Amino acid sequence: MELKAAVLVSALLCLALSRGALSQRARAPIVETPAPAPAPRHVELAELLSLAGPYGKFLEYLTMTDVIKTFQSQANDTKQGITVFAPQDSAFAALNETVLSNLTTDQLRSLMLHHAMPRYYQLSAFSALAAASPVSMFAYKVNVTYAAGTIGVVSGWATAKLASSVYSTSPVAVYALNRVLLPKEIFPAAPEMAPVPAPAPAPGRGGKVMADAPGASERAASDNADAKSSSCRVVGAGSLALGYVVLLVSGLLMV
Ligand SMILES: *[C@@H]1O[C@H](CO)[C@@H](O)[C@H](O)[C@H]1NC(C)=O
Ligand SMILES: *[C@@H]1O[C@H](CO)[C@@H](O)[C@H](O)[C@H]1NC(C)=O
Ligand SMILES: *[C@@H]1O[C@H](CO)[C@@H](O)[C@H](O)[C@H]1NC(C)=O
Ligand SMILES: *[C@@H]1O[C@H](CO)[C@@H](O)[C@H](O)[C@H]1NC(C)=O
Repeated sequence: MELKAAVLVSALLCLALSRGALSQRARAPIVETPAPAPAPRHVELAELLSLAGPYGKFLEYLTMTDVIKTFQSQANDTKQGITVFAPQDSAFAALNETVLSNLTTDQLRSLMLHHAMPRYYQLSAFSALAAASPVSMFAYKVNVTYAAGTIGVVSGWATAKLASSVYSTSPVAVYALNRVLLPKEIFPAAPEMAPVPAPAPAPGRGGKVMADAPGASERAASDNADAKSSSCRVVGAGSLALGYVVLLVSGLLMV
């Protein structure tokens, strides 16, 4: 009996300690201290896109074409990094549904590769990118425009606006676009748009990003993503620890 009680107490202590340690570890990367050369945090793009908001369609196409693997392996490359331009779901809804379903597998793959640059660029780099345009994506090129703090990405038939910064910590940047990019290499003629325009994004702050003064919506979005993903990790790791302790206790009791 005494042994059982002792085991239970130490098991509970162990659980409490590991929980504390886990939540501390999970919380640590959010603190924005300019620590000397911090180890870059691993970013799982699929997880980020699914937690960050209205990028489900984009993620679906990335997964369908396997381009998510190309992007993820570039995101893992901490020297170069990656800048992903994620069209919001409303951007896909604005296209006639046959525009993408008519594409061949290779064309769809190229179209997805056309939505990222094989290098990390923070927002403050975009005025230089505009000056250096056209800029290479994984496939084809775009023109970056920069006027009065509003960043545009122009590709063939699409003039997209950078709507917000979803995530930007070297080596990974993810920015939201209000349009799907439509390069002329894939679309020789202007693709048909959906008859009813998608719910228009509210004009004003949400539609613009000031490169020098990130908008509140941008911070909220990335805070939100951080909070969600770290809480998932804490819960996941916590229940793992709990499972381990339960195993440990039952193992000892059976001896
Ligand atoms: C990226 O890195 C993670 C963690 O090191 C690894 O699990 C994953 O397989 C890598 N993905 C690719 C596509 O290289
Ligand atoms: C999409 O385009 C096709 C071919 O032009 C057309 O027949 C169809 O009506 C369009 N669909 C919608 C929802 O506009
Ligand atoms: C998609 O393909 C169908 C059949 O070939 C064609 O009728 C339609 O116009 C195409 N739609 C678009 C938007 O190109
Ligand atoms: C970029 O701008 C140049 C000059 O206006 C133009 O010729 C080119 O087609 C544009 N490229 C893209 C991808 O839109």
